[in-house]
Amino acid sequence: MPETALTQAPAHVRHGSNIGQPLTRRDGVLKVTGAAHYAADNHPKGMLYAALAVSSIARGRVASLDVRAAKAHPGVVAVMTPANRPALAQDPDEKSNPFMFRLDLLQNDRVRYANQPIAVVIAQTLEAATEGAALLSPRYEAEPARIGLDAAESFVPAAVGPGFPAEAHRGDVEAGLAAASKRIEATYETPPQYHNAMEPHAIVAAWEGDRLSIDTPSQGLAWAQGRLAGLFGIAPENIHIRSPFLGGGFGSKGMISGPQVLGVLAARLVGKPVKLVLRREQMYGPVGHRAPTRQTLRLGAGSDGTLTALEHRTKTASSSFDDFFEPASEISHTLYASPAIATSYEAVRLDTGTPLFMRAPGEATGSIALESAIDEMAHACGMDPLAFRLKNYAEVEPISGKPFSSKALRDCYAQGAQRFGWERRPLAPRQMRDKDGLLVGWGLGTATFPAIMFEGQARAVLRRDGGGVMEIGAEDMGQGAWTALAQIAADALGLDIDRLEFRSGSSDLPDAGIAGGSALTATAGMAIHNAGGAAIAKLADLATGDRRSPLFGAGNAGVIARGGRLFRRDDESRSEGYADILGRAGLAEIEGRGKSAPDPTAQSTYAMHAHGAVFAEVKVDPELGQIRVTRVVGAFAAGRIINPRMVQSQLCGGMIWGVSFALHEQAHMDLRSGRPMNPNLADYHIPVNADVPSIEAILVEERDPHVNALGIKGVGEIGITGSAGAVANAVWHATGTRVRKFPITPDRLIEPQAR
Ligand code: MOS
Repeated sequence: MPETALTQAPAHVRHGSNIGQPLTRRDGVLKVTGAAHYAADNHPKGMLYAALAVSSIARGRVASLDVRAAKAHPGVVAVMTPANRPALAQDPDEKSNPFMFRLDLLQNDRVRYANQPIAVVIAQTLEAATEGAALLSPRYEAEPARIGLDAAESFVPAAVGPGFPAEAHRGDVEAGLAAASKRIEATYETPPQYHNAMEPHAIVAAWEGDRLSIDTPSQGLAWAQGRLAGLFGIAPENIHIRSPFLGGGFGSKGMISGPQVLGVLAARLVGKPVKLVLRREQMYGPVGHRAPTRQTLRLGAGSDGTLTALEHRTKTASSSFDDFFEPASEISHTLYASPAIATSYEAVRLDTGTPLFMRAPGEATGSIALESAIDEMAHACGMDPLAFRLKNYAEVEPISGKPFSSKALRDCYAQGAQRFGWERRPLAPRQMRDKDGLLVGWGLGTATFPAIMFEGQARAVLRRDGGGVMEIGAEDMGQGAWTALAQIAADALGLDIDRLEFRSGSSDLPDAGIAGGSALTATAGMAIHNAGGAAIAKLADLATGDRRSPLFGAGNAGVIARGGRLFRRDDESRSEGYADILGRAGLAEIEGRGKSAPDPTAQSTYAMHAHGAVFAEVKVDPELGQIRVTRVVGAFAAGRIINPRMVQSQLCGGMIWGVSFALHEQAHMDLRSGRPMNPNLADYHIPVNADVPSIEAILVEERDPHVNALGIKGVGEIGITGSAGAVANAVWHATGTRVRKFPITPDRLIEPQAR
C-alpha cells in the first residue's frame, strides 16, 4: 500500500472535529501525479499477458476455434478454452443467494450473449495475446437472438432487486382511481445502460501453490475473496486481494466478474502471473448493465390535487440464465402520500449478459418515470409542480406506514427553490425564451434513496509514539472513502489527522462490507467509530485506574479524547497524553476492535431515507430539437455530512448522471445480431463539461438520531434520482412536448413517430 501525504490545508484541521471539515482527498496528489497504482499498473516478475476472445453472436454455440493458428503465433504461450480450462471446485452456474451471479468461465461451448468470453489467449506480450485471440477465427452455430422487452414471453419474477417482493400494495388502487377527479396513465421507457467505469475490469493474478495473490479493482473485497474461495476450493485467507484505487465501479465491481476469474484461471493454467484487462467493448456483456424498463404509471387525484391512487408497474429483462430484475417500482413506495399504492413487475429473458446493480439500481430508472408522471399529474390538476409535491408530501412512509427516521425534504424544496428562483416559473409550458430565441423550461424532481447499512469491522491501534492506526478493508472507488473514513477514524481515536495512519483497500484488513448501496460511509464509519472507541476505553481504563495519572478516578465516562490526549470531562485542566499513559503502563501499543451493523429495532421502527429536490433549466432549439441543460440546483438532506467537499462531489456526479439518463445515455442493441452497436465512449454518449455548465449541490442540515450513532446516510446514489426527472420535466416545460422514451433525443422531441 503506498503511503499518502495529506493534501489539506492545516487551517482545516481542528482538534476533535475532523468530521465535517472539507478536507481535500488524501490520495489526490497520488492520483493527479500518476503515482497511484491501479490494478493494471502492476507487473510482477515473469508476468504474462492474457487477452479475451469474445463471442460475436448472442445465442448459440461455438462450433470451432482455430487454436492451432493462435498457438503458432510467436509469443503465444497458451490458449485456454473449455477443453483445457483448469478445474473449478464449484459450478460457475451455481447460485445460492441473490448476490451470487452466474459466471461464464468457459464451462462449455454455449453462447448466452454477445461479448461472452469464449477463449483466453496468454502470451509474452499484450500484442501477441491480442493477435493470437484474433487468429482463433471462431465459427458459430447461431440461434436467433432475443433482444428487447417484447422479444420473449413475459413472466412475474419471484423477487426483484436484492430480494424485494415483485408485488406490493396498500389500500385499493382501483377504488382510488374511481374516486379521482383527475386520472393519468402513462408509459415510460428507459434503455439499457452500461456502467462504463473509466478503469476497465483488470486483474493481475499470481498463484503460489494454493495461495492466490491478486490486484484487481473491487467494491467488495470480502465478497470477492469469498466467491473466489468457493470457485477454487481454497480457504479465503489464502486469497489476498489488493484494491487500493478503483477508477469507478458504479456497481459493476461489486461482485467479482467472470473475466476477472478468467484471469485467475489463466494464471493457474500457465503457472505464472497473468494480467488480463478488458477492452472497452468487452465491458458490454460480461460485467453487468442496467436493464431496460417499460414502466406504466396510473395516478388519480382529487379536485384539490391530493393523490388518491398511485400504481407503478415495471416490465424489465434479465438474461436467459440468471436473475436480476431492476427494481424500478420500489421508489413509489416511499415518496408520495397516496392512500392507495400498488407496485408490480413482469420480466422477459433475453440473450444479453445478466443485468446488475448500477448506481441507484431501481431508484434511478423508477425515479425518472415517477417524477415525470407526478409532473404530468400536477399539470392535469393545473398546479405548480412544487405545490403539487408539497400537497402530497408523505409525513410517514406511505407503503409501510412507518415514520421516517428523519426527513428534511421540505427544507430541500425550500432551499433549492429559493436558490433556483422557482417562484418566477410560469405555470404553462412554452412560455419562456432566451435572447437567442431558444425555448427555456424549468423542471423539478424529488430525490430519495434508502439509508442502508451493512455489517463491517475495523481495528484501531494507539501507539506509544502518540500516533494511531486504523485498519479497514474499505474501497475507495473514487468517492473519497479514504478521506472521509480517515476523518471519522481521527475523531474516533481523538487524534490530529496527521498522526493517523489509515490502512485500507486490501482483503487482509477487517471486512468493511461493500462499497455499494451508498452504504460504505455508514457501515465502515460506524465500525471505525466503535474500534476507536474501544481503544480509547482501554486507554482510559489504564489512566483512570492509576494513581500516578492526573486522570485517576475520573472513570471511563468522565474522560474525553482529543488531540492525542485524554481530558477529564469535569475539569479539562487535568489531562494526559496517550504516549505518557502507554509509556507508564509499559505498553508499546493498545488495540481496539469495532463492529457495525444496522440496528434491527430502529430498522423495523423507522423508514430510513435520504431526500432531496433537484431543479433544472434547459434550453431547447425549437427547430432542431437540440437540448442543453443550462442550470441544475439540487438540495439534499442526507444526515451528517462527514466531508462537505466529497459529498458535493458525489451529489454533483449523481446529478450529472441524471442529466445523462435524461438526455444522453443508451446502449443501442442490434435486434438481429443481439450485439450492442455503440460499445465505446465515442458512440455511447455521456455528458462532457460542455453539457453541464452550472451545477450546484446545497447540503441541507439534517440530524437523524436513528440511522446510526453518527447519523450518517449515504450520498453516492441519491443524486441521480430526481435529477433525471427534473431535466425531463424541464424539457416538457420548455416545449410543451412530453417525451416518455429516454433518453430524450432531438428526433424524439421533434418527430412524433420517434416517440
Ligand atoms: Mo452501487 S449500484 O450500490 O455500486
